[in-house]
Amino acid sequence: MKLGHEKLDADHEAIISLAHDIDRDLTGRCSIEALRTKLNRLYAMLTEHCVFEEDLMDLLPRERYAKEVEDHKRGHDRLLNGFLMLVNFADRTSASAEAVQPHYRLTIDTLAELIIGDSQLLGSLAKEGKISPA
Ligand SMILES: [Fe+2]
Ligand SMILES: [Fe+2]
Repeated sequence: MKLGHEKLDADHEAIISLAHDIDRDLTGRCSIEALRTKLNRLYAMLTEHCVFEEDLMDLLPRERYAKEVEDHKRGHDRLLNGFLMLVNFADRTSASAEAVQPHYRLTIDTLAELIIGDSQLLGSLAKEGKISPA
């Protein structure tokens, strides 16, 4: 799903591609070490991406967009907190790829929903003249 914002679309594409890559690893045979490396990379990408979006959100006038911005940030927080728990779980010495899989699914399922929410954010930014419309 392209939103028409170069950086956000590139980020989403890279995030989804790595998320699918991890998904494939989890259904096949992969070492927990390789999995940890990828999970950490995805967590870093998600964190950077959410910070970038939240900086954009700060351009919106608070009096009209406080609720929209707070709701969106809450979605980011839920994803990042869930992902951090997942990274910590995978970091346990006893962890295996099989044990990580169900937690991964639950965490990553919110991604598509969040990207749909990003289109609302971009719409608001365009409406306020903070970015050029797609
Ligand atoms: Fe996003
Ligand atoms: Fe977002």
